[in-house]
Amino acid sequence: DSADVPVLTIDGPTASGKGTLASAVAIALGYHFLDSGALYRATALAAMQAGVTDTDEAGLARVAAGLQLKFTGHQIWLAGVEVSDDLRQEHVGAMASRVSTFPSVRDALKALQLSHRRVPGLVADGRDMGTVIFPGADLKVFVTASAAVRAERRHKQLISKGIPANIDSLRADLEARDLRDQSRTVAPLKPAEDAKLFDNSQLTVDQCVAQVLEWWEAKQAF
Ligand code: DC
Repeated sequence: DSADVPVLTIDGPTASGKGTLASAVAIALGYHFLDSGALYRATALAAMQAGVTDTDEAGLARVAAGLQLKFTGHQIWLAGVEVSDDLRQEHVGAMASRVSTFPSVRDALKALQLSHRRVPGLVADGRDMGTVIFPGADLKVFVTASAAVRAERRHKQLISKGIPANIDSLRADLEARDLRDQSRTVAPLKPAEDAKLFDNSQLTVDQCVAQVLEWWEAKQAF
């Protein structure tokens, strides 16, 4: 029964470093890793390819329900095409944020998310992993970092890939995305009541991983 499989959830806003943290924790524990944002991004990309607009809820829910998604290591395939880089693009993320406001889209992606809970365990990253998808998770972490720090990180990431970027417009974009993710009525971005709040503005990735592993070990002691 998958209900016995341990789950650790890592939620937080865009560019908070939760993806990097969650995947490193998954590797350290030898657990599976679910990047739930990738499902919303893939829905957004598939919708754009099919000409479904961001106001067509029924159309978007159909796209979500019919997603042909495959994860192989760090690669993601949509209907047989490798789309890992396409999914990371800013306009796909922005469309994903709009698409994810629709309840029927969220419902359509729920079973797919639950199916990632397999032995020996799962680390899931997103916005509502601890509140909606895995409310019984063994450990819930809610990552935050100041908007200035997050804009700086995103800027560095883009520049290192040779993509020109402007730090002020990145910050404005991520604040707009935060506002949309937090103020939607279904599964808004907010910490679960029993989540550990974790501001990583001043921490390195290694320090963050060490902290989460320490919390995890403390839980196992009981
Ligand atoms: O984590 P990310 O930036 O890849 O997520 C892209 C968008 O998908 C995000 O702006 C909101 C949505 N999302 C969501 O609504 N619920 C999740 N569990 C993960 C992502």
